Amino acid sequence: MKQIQNTYPVVALKKISPTYFRLTFQAPSLAKVVKPGQFIHIKVSEGFEPFFRRPFSVYRAHQGKVEIFFEPVGKGSCLLTAKKKGDPLDVLGPLGKPFTMPAKDVKQIVFVAGGIGVAPFMIFADAIKGHKAEKILLYGGRSKAHTFPMNEFRKDGVKVCVATDDGSVGVKGRVSELFNKIAIDPSTKIYTCGPRPMMASVQAFARIHGLKGEASCEEVMACGLGACLGCSIPTTKGYQTVCHDGPVFDLNELVF
Ligand SMILES: Cc1cc2nc3c(=O)[nH]c(=O)nc-3n(C[C@H](O)[C@H](O)[C@H](O)COP(=O)(O)OP(=O)(O)OC[C@H]3O[C@@H](n4cnc5c(N)ncnc54)[C@H](O)[C@@H]3O)c2cc1C
Ligand code: FES
Repeated sequence: MKQIQNTYPVVALKKISPTYFRLTFQAPSLAKVVKPGQFIHIKVSEGFEPFFRRPFSVYRAHQGKVEIFFEPVGKGSCLLTAKKKGDPLDVLGPLGKPFTMPAKDVKQIVFVAGGIGVAPFMIFADAIKGHKAEKILLYGGRSKAHTFPMNEFRKDGVKVCVATDDGSVGVKGRVSELFNKIAIDPSTKIYTCGPRPMMASVQAFARIHGLKGEASCEEVMACGLGACLGCSIPTTKGYQTVCHDGPVFDLNELVF
C-alpha cells in the first residue's frame, strides 16, 4: 500500500478519562484508505526534539476525520496533549498490515484488549457492524482511571465486559478472568492487543482450545517503514518487524 505523508489540521483534542485522550484531525484521503489494525507515524513537534516520529493506531476513521486514542507516557505523547484546534499535524501513513476481516461463517468475534491496546478495535468494530456474529470486547485496565465510556462500542453492537486489577470497575482481576465469555467453537475468532503478558495468556487460551486469533504488537519504533529493523520481534518464522511485517501477526506465530 502507498504511504502518504501529509499535514492535516487538528479538529479536536479531548480528555476522555483521567488517563486517556482522543485527538481528531481532518484527513479525508487517509480516512478513506486506512484499515483496522494499521497505524500512523506522527511527528509530534515542529522541531527536532523528539527526533523520531511516534506510532499510534487509528482509533476511528469516519466523515473525513481520523482519530487516535492515546495515553501520555513520555515526551512525545505528552506533546500531543498540547495540540489545539487548527494546529498542523504531520502524519505518515497508513502503515503496517491490518487485521484480517472475519469470514462470514464466524459465529463469535472477540476483542481482548489491555489498556491502550483497545485503540485498534473501535475502527474494527465500525468495520464489522453488519457482521452477524456475536461481538464481544473483553477489556482489562489497571483501575477505574484506565477505563473510559465505551458506548461507541455498544452502538456498534459489541458487548463490553470489563475487568480491573483493583476491582474498581467490572470484575476484579486480570482480563483473563473474562475468558469464560469466549465461545469454544471452531469458528470463534480472537483479536488481541495490549501488554505482552496479556497477549501471551490469550495465545495460551487459544492454543488449548484450538481457536484462531490475531494480535497487534507494539514496539519502540524509529523509521516505521521496515528499514532500520529496530522494531524486530521473535516469531516462529524468525525475527519480523512490527512496523512492516506487523503490527498484526497470527497469534500462534508470536514467541513470548
Ligand atoms: C503499532 C503501534 C501502535 C500504537 N498505538 C498506540 C495508541 O493507539 N495509543 C497509545 O497511547 N500508544 C500507542 N502506541 C505506543 C506509543 O507509540 C508510545 O506510547 C509512544 O511512542 C511513546 O512515546 P513518548 O515519546 O511519549 O514516550 P517515550 O519517552 O519514548 O517513552 C516513554 C516510556 O514508554 C516506553 N515506550 C515507548 N514506546 C513504547 C511502545 N511502543 N511500547 C511499549 N513501551 C513503549 C518507553 O520505553 C518508556 O519507558 C503504539 C505503538 C505502536 C508500535
Ligand atoms: S521501526 Fe524501523 S524497521 Fe520498524
